[in-house]
Amino acid sequence: MNTVAIKPVAATAGAASGNHAPKVVSQGVKVFYGEKEALHGVDLDINEREVTALIGPSGCGKSTYLRCLNRMNDVVEGCRVEGSIKIDGDDIYDRRIDVVQLRARVGMVFQKPNPFPKSIYENVAYGPRIHGIAQGKNELDEIVESSLTRAGLWKEVKDRLDKPGTGLSGGQQQRLCIARAIAVSPEVILMDEPCSALDPIATARIEELIDELRENYTIVIVTHSMQQAARVSQRTAFFHLGDLVEYGDTSQIFTNPKEERTQAYITGRFG
Ligand SMILES: Nc1ncnc2c1ncn2[C@@H]1O[C@H](COP(=O)(O)OP(=O)(O)OP(=O)(O)O)[C@@H](O)[C@H]1O
Ligand SMILES: [Mg+2]
Repeated sequence: MNTVAIKPVAATAGAASGNHAPKVVSQGVKVFYGEKEALHGVDLDINEREVTALIGPSGCGKSTYLRCLNRMNDVVEGCRVEGSIKIDGDDIYDRRIDVVQLRARVGMVFQKPNPFPKSIYENVAYGPRIHGIAQGKNELDEIVESSLTRAGLWKEVKDRLDKPGTGLSGGQQQRLCIARAIAVSPEVILMDEPCSALDPIATARIEELIDELRENYTIVIVTHSMQQAARVSQRTAFFHLGDLVEYGDTSQIFTNPKEERTQAYITGRFG
């Protein structure tokens, strides 16, 4: 069988530890855009402090599923979600859930880096300020520094914090967006093709960062790169035409898939 070579970022990457508890539990998740059913009942447990990769051909529902996890589909006109999604046992579609708070718990990094048209400092300080996380300027400064440090950007920007975030390179902007996401201390970070606009060096930097971040965060990443999924994730979910076809340890999915459709996709026979 012609499978994808697995070359982990770090010695520990790619290996599922097997003892991480489920953080996000989805049951029977269906998503409709108007009359059209885009997801046909997804059951998926996402383990805490692991990286879960969502793969599959274009249009199969990866972004649709990802957006369910922080209720970003709420803002899509005509979109309806059915089924149940729990984070640490809390039903995130319960009417009592504060969606703003939820999105602080479940942060998101998009395909195209999208810094606010503000300074580097303000990009990171904005979230902690609106969520009342920092008490005063000193604490805010500390959060900005530690978030930029964890995102691997501090050294490059510490002397230009008052300059616009949009003036950074694409790879730096994406790390700024990751710093902005982690500044509010989320539990889960969603990333929808975070490297697709980046060159190989910036991509490698983000992949290393993802591997470091999983020590503290639960990460769900959509990627079209099989190599990237194999390098950064511990678990992989393969979607096709709105169905979750197969889900398992990344090494199993890429070396010994159970489903014919998974094998066809990872060997490049469709998609
Ligand atoms: N806002 C929307 N309105 C109507 N249909 C949508 C909307 N967003 C997505 N869809 C449809 O839902 C299905 C799944 O789309 P989705 O964007 O989740 O796929 P994807 O797997 O993320 O694809 P890609 O790899 O191209 O990003 C597709 O048929 C798409 O046309
Ligand atoms: Mg998508």
